[in-house]
Amino acid sequence: MKSFLPALLALAFVACKPNPQENQESSMTPSEEAMETGKDPHSYAKADAQVKHLNWDANISFENKVIEALAEWEIETQTGAENIFFDIYDLEIDSVLVDGEKTAYALSSFDEHLGQGLRIPISESAKKVSIYYRTGDDARALQWLDAEQTADKGHPFLFTQSQAILARSWVPTQDSPGVRFTYEAKVKVPSDMLALMSASNPMEKSADGVYSFEMPQAIPSYLLALSVGNINFEAISDRTGVYAEPSLLEASAYEFADLEKMVQAAEELYGPYAWGRYDLIVLPPSFPFGGMENPRLTFATPTILAGDRSLVSLVAHELAHSWSGNLVTNATWDDFWLNEGFTVYFEHRIMEAVYGREYSEMLANLTRAGLQEAAADMLKEMPNDTKLKLDLEGRNPDDGVTSIPYDKGYFFLRLMEETVGRERFDEFLTNYFQGHKFQVMTTEEFLVYLKANLLSEEEYASVRVDEWIYETGIPDNLPEVESDRFAVVDEALNGFLMSGELVAEDISAAWTTHEWLHFINSIPDTVSAEQLAKLDAAYKFTASNNSEISAAWFQPTIAAAYEAVYPKVESFLISVGRRKFLTPTYKALLNADQGEMAKDIYKKARPNYHAVSRETMDNLLGWEA
Ligand code: BES
Ligand code: ZN
Repeated sequence: MKSFLPALLALAFVACKPNPQENQESSMTPSEEAMETGKDPHSYAKADAQVKHLNWDANISFENKVIEALAEWEIETQTGAENIFFDIYDLEIDSVLVDGEKTAYALSSFDEHLGQGLRIPISESAKKVSIYYRTGDDARALQWLDAEQTADKGHPFLFTQSQAILARSWVPTQDSPGVRFTYEAKVKVPSDMLALMSASNPMEKSADGVYSFEMPQAIPSYLLALSVGNINFEAISDRTGVYAEPSLLEASAYEFADLEKMVQAAEELYGPYAWGRYDLIVLPPSFPFGGMENPRLTFATPTILAGDRSLVSLVAHELAHSWSGNLVTNATWDDFWLNEGFTVYFEHRIMEAVYGREYSEMLANLTRAGLQEAAADMLKEMPNDTKLKLDLEGRNPDDGVTSIPYDKGYFFLRLMEETVGRERFDEFLTNYFQGHKFQVMTTEEFLVYLKANLLSEEEYASVRVDEWIYETGIPDNLPEVESDRFAVVDEALNGFLMSGELVAEDISAAWTTHEWLHFINSIPDTVSAEQLAKLDAAYKFTASNNSEISAAWFQPTIAAAYEAVYPKVESFLISVGRRKFLTPTYKALLNADQGEMAKDIYKKARPNYHAVSRETMDNLLGWEA
C-alpha cells in the first residue's frame, strides 16, 4: 500500500548547510512508518542509530529568552546505519559535527505536532554527534516568566515541561519514550540564580552562575527538565528536600514534611527507590500541571500549598512515577495508561500506608465519581479515547491526557487486586517493576506478562481484561468504593437540600478537605443561587484558599449564576495556569452562557499561561491567537 502513496504525501527532507543540495529526497513520515513497524508515531528517531549519552552545555539568556547550547550525543549504531534522526521543534541549528567533522544535514518539512525530523548522515562507525543550536520563540516546553509572575517578584524564572513531546523544543533529541540515555550538563545562568535539572542538583547558589549536573541513570527525553530562578533549598530528611522561592520555602517544607515517610512507604510496597535523592520544587502558579515526575526532582504546582497538607496525594503520585513510568516506561503514548494508571494505583497505596485506609478510600471515592462523569462526557464526543489502549497517531499525544488512562487504569488494577488478593497482586507488581526496570513496556507485552505471572484463565475472563483495555466506556464490573465518612456527608447534604438545614456544627467541624470536596461535588444541578449563598455564608467556600475546593465550588456556582463567585473566578483564572483547573472552569462558564465573561478573563489570563495550557484553552474558547 505504502509505495503507492503519491509522492506529495511522503515526507520531504531538505538538505541544509553547510553544503545545501538542490535535490529533495523523500522518506516515510513517523505515522506512515508506525503503521508499518509499530514504532512510536510521534518521533522521527529510528532504531538503527540511537543516542546513549548526552553532554549538554547551555547558556540561559533571560534577556533574550533564549537557550543557546551544544548537545553532544554519544550514539550507538547498527550495521548498515546511514543516518541518525533527531526530533526538533522550532530550534535554530547552527552547525552539526559527526566525530568532530562538520557535516551536512537535512530537515523534514514542519509538522504542527511533531516539529521536524533532523537527518544527519553518518557511517556505521560514528560515535559522536554534536549539534550547536538555539531555541526559538515558539519553544513550547519553556516558560519564561517575568519577575512579576513569580512569588517573590524579584527575579525572572524559567521552567521546562517536556512531556509528552516537547523536549524537542529545547534539546535536539530522539524524543520517544522508548529511547533512553544518561546525561551530564553544564548550565550557565545569571549569577544570582539557581539552576536545577532532573539530575544531581546543587543545594545552594554558585558564585558564578555555572552549575554542573549528572544523571547516571538512563531516562527518556520526556523526563529532561530544567528550572532556573531565585530558588532556595530546605532538607526534609537525608535524601529528601524542597526547593522553592524564598518566600514560599517555609510553607513548602511544612506542607511536604511527610516526604521521607512517603518514600519509605513506597519502597516497602514495591522495592528500592532507584534514583538516589528525591526532592521537590514548588514552581510559580503558571505551571500547567499539578506535578511532573522529573527524576530526582518532582516539579509541583504551588496550588497544593493548602497550609494543612490536605493535597499531598499529588506528591505520592509523582513519587510513585519513580517506579511506574520512570523505571518501567510506556513504549509509546498510546500505552500512556501503563504510566498513569499504575501510578494512580501506587499513589493510593502510598496514601493508604501513610494516612490509613479510611483516608485513601475517600480519595478513591472521589476518583471513581470523577471517572464516571468524565467517561459519560467522553462517550458522546470521543468514544475511542475511553479505551485504555489509545490510538493517538497523527494527533497531539496531549489529547490522550484524560481521566481514562489515570482513573480507568487505576480501577482496572484495583479490580485485579480484588480478584487475586493483595498479597499476590503486590508480589506481581514488585516483580513487574524490578523485572522491567529501565525498560519500556507496551500494552500487549503487559498482557502477555499478566497471563504468565498473575491471572489464571478463569481470572482473566472474570476481570474481562480485553474489554477493559480495548473497548470503550467503563465495564460494569467497576469496583465499588465504600466510604462511611462520605455517607455522613451525603446525609448532611440531602438534609440541606430538603429542608435548608445546615450541617450540624459538631459534624462539619471534623470534616477534611475531601469530605468538603465530596459535599461540593454532590450539589445537584437544580440548586439555586440563593441556596448556594446560604452555603457560602456558612462555610466560606468562595473565600477558601484551598485550590481544589475553589475549583470544585466554581462548578455549581457558575452553573447557577451565583454572581458573588465571579471575582474569585477571575482572579483564580488569572493567577493559576494549572490546566486541570482551567478546563472545567472555562467549560462551566461556556455552559452557563457566560462565553463573554470567559473570553474577557482569558484575554487577561492568557499571557500568564504556559504553551500547554494555552493550546488547550485556545481550542476550548475558539481563540484566534
Ligand atoms: N506525568 C503527569 C503529567 C503529564 C502527563 C504531563 C502527560 C504531560 C503529559 C503527572 O504525573 C501527572 O499525572 N500530574 C497530575 C497529577 C495528579 C494526577 C495527581 C496533574 O498534573 O494533575
Ligand atoms: Zn502522573
